[in-house]
Amino acid sequence: MERIGVLGAGTWGIALARLLARQGHEVTVWSALSQEIEELKANRCHRFLPGVIIPENVRLTADIREACEDKALVLFAVPSPYVRATARAAKPYIQADQLIADAAKGIEPDTLLTLSEVIQEELAGPDGVKPPVTALSGPTHAEEVARDLLTAIVAACPDESVAARVQRLFMTPAFRVYTNTDIRGVELCGALKNIIALAAGICDGLGQGDNAKAALITRGLAEIVRLGRAMGTLEETFAGLTGMGDLIVTCTSRHSRNHRAGELIGSGVPVPQALEQIGMVVEGINALPAAMALARQYGTEVPIIEAVDAVIHRGVSPVEAVMGLMRRQGRNELARAPRDIAYEQAVIENAMRQKKGDSTMKRVITYGTFDLLHYGHINLLRRAKALGDYLIVALSTDEFNWNEKQKKCYFTYEKRKALLEAIRYVDLVIPEESWEQKKTDIHLYHVDTFVIGEDWKGKFDFLKDEGAEVVYLPRTPEISTTQIKQELGK
Ligand SMILES: NC(=O)c1ccc[n+]([C@@H]2O[C@H](COP(=O)([O-])OP(=O)(O)OC[C@H]3O[C@@H](n4cnc5c(N)ncnc54)[C@H](O)[C@@H]3O)[C@@H](O)[C@H]2O)c1
Repeated sequence: MERIGVLGAGTWGIALARLLARQGHEVTVWSALSQEIEELKANRCHRFLPGVIIPENVRLTADIREACEDKALVLFAVPSPYVRATARAAKPYIQADQLIADAAKGIEPDTLLTLSEVIQEELAGPDGVKPPVTALSGPTHAEEVARDLLTAIVAACPDESVAARVQRLFMTPAFRVYTNTDIRGVELCGALKNIIALAAGICDGLGQGDNAKAALITRGLAEIVRLGRAMGTLEETFAGLTGMGDLIVTCTSRHSRNHRAGELIGSGVPVPQALEQIGMVVEGINALPAAMALARQYGTEVPIIEAVDAVIHRGVSPVEAVMGLMRRQGRNELARAPRDIAYEQAVIENAMRQKKGDSTMKRVITYGTFDLLHYGHINLLRRAKALGDYLIVALSTDEFNWNEKQKKCYFTYEKRKALLEAIRYVDLVIPEESWEQKKTDIHLYHVDTFVIGEDWKGKFDFLKDEGAEVVYLPRTPEISTTQIKQELGK
């Protein structure tokens, strides 16, 4: 049994307090609104969670000291705009050894800090040392958690042992907690999904169907992924509970107030009246300024988020905003260029092969002139090296170039060799003096993989007969030696 303080007596604070109390913990819930505390004390029930009784071992207080002092865990469950002030008020009563967790979802608009970062900043000691803060996030409607309906959530903290302590406190047979160390990704997903839920609601309000909603969820996730990648968050988080999981629930559930607010707006209710009707925090609207600022800062395209911002803050009608999205220029669904995907696949396949013990040292060879060594060449060398452990470059000699290709190089063989040897992917440079030497090189240098640009596709398949794998790598289209030579000739 532990003593736990919950800051915030909204539906989420109460649902979590009930869950913890039913685990036998002694829970104290604080609210900044003394009237709310009086009402809860009188009714032992939150007005938005009808029929859900607040257990006897939940104390209710308007004194933040009572909720913080001597608690093993202090859980922040106030809406995002109040997180900083609440942390500031709690600070005098919080000690370094207490666990701190945040269940609110959002990003502070002025600082662009996530809410765990806001709490850390406020609770930092005089020496500037910040306490670890765990973010609790996932597809978790208070209305369902309060009725013990099965739920899974994420406890995220860069220090996994801290996340695991929070996990142990919350875990019940109906409430499954996963840990995650990618707290930035978790918090970013938690904040942005509410904006996508507003968009999904607007679409429903306009009378659109499930197709539109599925498209919004998917393309909304693509926006979150783009921004998250730019901010250095982990890929796995997007497909996890706080990414795809929370997006699904918030865009489709009748409990989602962001979705409900969007639906009202889509059906023609002006924004202020829609918010008044909801009567609870609509975090998607709070998250918009930070989302827009982050997208600008990281140079990321976020058309759905921009469309929601246009409706909420710039008076654009929902119909106009949706049509604007549909009229956007045609795109490729894949975010990365095909050549990068091919490269990644080759690297993964190679890694798998090595893991299976198919090979120990893998030697790769490539051939070429590599004149005016440019990033197209370096791209090729990087990808060639990634296919094995040891990269040999057979560099065309000046004689071979002239006699066989009638080509004169800008740099001499010696200079080209020196440049190639300076590239960290290249392990060995040997001369290419004839067309035929490739077959013998395979055996002489124990080559496993022969690599060449895909403009030669199929031309060297005969090397497979020598036991080598033959890989044609896509070229980097933006640059070529011919193009540079033309520029130099001007
Ligand atoms: N409700 C859910 O299902 C749910 C689930 C997961 C996460 N969350 C997140 O938890 C946070 C709280 O959500 P909620 O649903 O409990 O919100 P809510 O709208 O029910 O909470 C309102 C509460 O905010 C608190 N509050 C009001 N003014 C305050 C002030 N000046 N200072 C401090 N606190 C004040 C009060 O306790 C009030 O009851 C949000 O960030 C939300 O996104 C909610």
